[in-house]
Amino acid sequence: MSYSLHPILLAACLVLLLFVTSTHGFQSPAAATTTNNKRALWMSETETPPPSSKSGYVPKWKKKKTLADEGDGMDFKDKGIKGTINVVFQQGDETKSTMAMPGQPLRDVATQAGQFIKYGCGKGECGTCEAMCDGKWIRPCKDVVPVGQDEIVVTVKEIASKTTSSGTFFSVKSFFMGFYNNLLGMVGFVKYRRNAKENWNERQEYEDLIRQKTEEKKRLRKLQKQAAKANGSNNDTNGSLSP
Ligand code: FES
Repeated sequence: MSYSLHPILLAACLVLLLFVTSTHGFQSPAAATTTNNKRALWMSETETPPPSSKSGYVPKWKKKKTLADEGDGMDFKDKGIKGTINVVFQQGDETKSTMAMPGQPLRDVATQAGQFIKYGCGKGECGTCEAMCDGKWIRPCKDVVPVGQDEIVVTVKEIASKTTSSGTFFSVKSFFMGFYNNLLGMVGFVKYRRNAKENWNERQEYEDLIRQKTEEKKRLRKLQKQAAKANGSNNDTNGSLSP
């Protein structure tokens, strides 16, 4: 007697298992408390975290301020920034400026000014970082500060949607999305199994056909051989009887 598990039943078991592990995460309450205590200890040793938009959630990281962030009111010389060209970055309503030397990579200048630019390939091929400078499109990932100008204005594309991290592993949305993904996987699994079965049957039919034809050929060849043998013996008999 063979025990085979139906694909749908198997997939349902998998979904149940995934659901249990996603809600409890294989973490005992004691372990969870230890983690929370560790986090609280870590937090107490650091400076005040940034304010969170989500009530109840306190991120454990803190953004380090750059010189550009801290140096409000200081002039570029005091900050130690050298350069002869005033570079202004504009993104929406925000403007950031710094000084740069001719030929200095714009990418570095943007970092120096604290200007965020979204990069893709980083070598001037994809166009993700494209910005407008003096009526021309430039690619800050590879372009440099031009020579012979006192000031350049680089208009950086606005970010369409800033992705925000939920900050927590589990949320109601993630639960439903997880369930939806599992459901999709289950449907895909059943479809795949059905297609595989059809393919298998088709292959078996084809192999049966080949086997049948081979048998037929073998049988015909055998008959031909027998006929040839019978003809040969008849000829021998006739030859021996003739005077
Ligand atoms: S990052 Fe790809 S072109 Fe600049």
